[in-house]
Amino acid sequence: MSAEAKIVSSIVQEYMNRTKRSKQRFDEAWKVMPGANTRIAVFMMPYPAYIRKGEGTRLWDIDDNEYIDFNFNMTCLVLGHKHPKVMEAINKQIECGTSFGGPTEHEVELAKRLVERIPSAEQVRFTPSGTEAVHQAIRLARCYTKKEKIIKCEGAYHGTWDAIDISVFPTPEEQGPPLNPNRVPFSKGIPKGVIENTLVVPFNNIEIMEKTIKKHKDELAAVILEPIQRGYEPKEGYLERVRELTEMYGILLIFDEVVCYRVSRGGAQELYGVTPDITTLGKLIGGGFPVGAYVSSHEIMKQFSFELPEGPQLFFSGTFNAFPLAMVAGAATLDVLTKDVYEKMNKLGEEMREGLAEILSDQNINAQVGGVGSFFHIFWTKEKVVDYRTLKTADTRCQNYFDLDSLNRGIYYRDHPNVSAVTTRDDVKKALEAAQQSIETLKPVIKEISPQLFQ
Ligand SMILES: Cc1ncc(COP(=O)(O)O)c(C=O)c1O
Repeated sequence: MSAEAKIVSSIVQEYMNRTKRSKQRFDEAWKVMPGANTRIAVFMMPYPAYIRKGEGTRLWDIDDNEYIDFNFNMTCLVLGHKHPKVMEAINKQIECGTSFGGPTEHEVELAKRLVERIPSAEQVRFTPSGTEAVHQAIRLARCYTKKEKIIKCEGAYHGTWDAIDISVFPTPEEQGPPLNPNRVPFSKGIPKGVIENTLVVPFNNIEIMEKTIKKHKDELAAVILEPIQRGYEPKEGYLERVRELTEMYGILLIFDEVVCYRVSRGGAQELYGVTPDITTLGKLIGGGFPVGAYVSSHEIMKQFSFELPEGPQLFFSGTFNAFPLAMVAGAATLDVLTKDVYEKMNKLGEEMREGLAEILSDQNINAQVGGVGSFFHIFWTKEKVVDYRTLKTADTRCQNYFDLDSLNRGIYYRDHPNVSAVTTRDDVKKALEAAQQSIETLKPVIKEISPQLFQ
């Protein structure tokens, strides 16, 4: 029997023994939900553990297994679960009701905090999700520039919406030449006309970006990118040059900071010193509630305003835009996130990255550890990850086996692993001890399926 069959099946068996109620729920879900889920990002093999509750840095599943959370709902809960300041704000608001057919003062409060912190923000609009923020940001760019095409980077995920669901995770057969990637719809049901308006370039390759911008300058409304794309950093000078080029040709630059706003008080744009025209936000700014926002200058945002002589050029509404509980939870979260808190959190992120790198190196495993600030990630590849194609050299089986074995050891990573502001040094110590044991257990499997990691 191969090491993979033997060791992985015992990890799976242990997981199934620990999560019997989750398995029952999963079986029921198959009947009433297609693919037994409603959010593919939380799906995993053999099935996900169904979560019962969270408190601080701890999670419990419905079988009462306890985990140290290093996921925090895909980075949203930057203050951990049920932070007292956030709970106080939510409880106070709930006493007043849940939602209303009128604005609340809380949206003004959260908007003021974002404007004060984010360099590109003079004005703010809220949405119920990051997806809708990106959708609206692109529509705004098209309205403002009166052009239609956009550029996005291969491998970038910007939510679930037609114009940006192109070349998110293309397979090697689909992806086309590295310097001229195909435009591959991520999903069926995206009209051809939409695909034609989205151009795809590799992240971190300024030559291709420049060539594509110059070729399509008269048709391009916007370039949208994540300044830190899925855990790998921009090369030195990359963001600066994209900024110069977009400015030069009257194209708007959109930073999607739905995830990476977490790296500093003013987001990735503050960290790298590059200010986009529009920024999209989500996740942490809702303090654990559904939220999204896009921020920009008054000059651009006035397309929505009655102050234009011709009236608003863009229509945008939504029953749950600026949902009051998200507004108060978001404002309470930002108030806790002072510079010192970021510093402490990012330092723990660094300790996690250093610790994982040391464990891998001690085991002679040539994998990379990436991430910025509070994010950390093992890339199971020898190659330095700078874009989607280099990310694809990572062995996802190693990732999945490591994640599953970590769950058995009470450590909850899944996608986007991160530390929160309430994560302690002791949590990090426990996670690193568990990682050491996982990697020792999995070493024969890794040797068998990814021998290049030992060269
Ligand atoms: C970079 C980025 N943009 C946009 C989104 C979409 O946000 P939401 O899931 O709130 O729709 C996500 C979600 O993970 C994201 O990672």
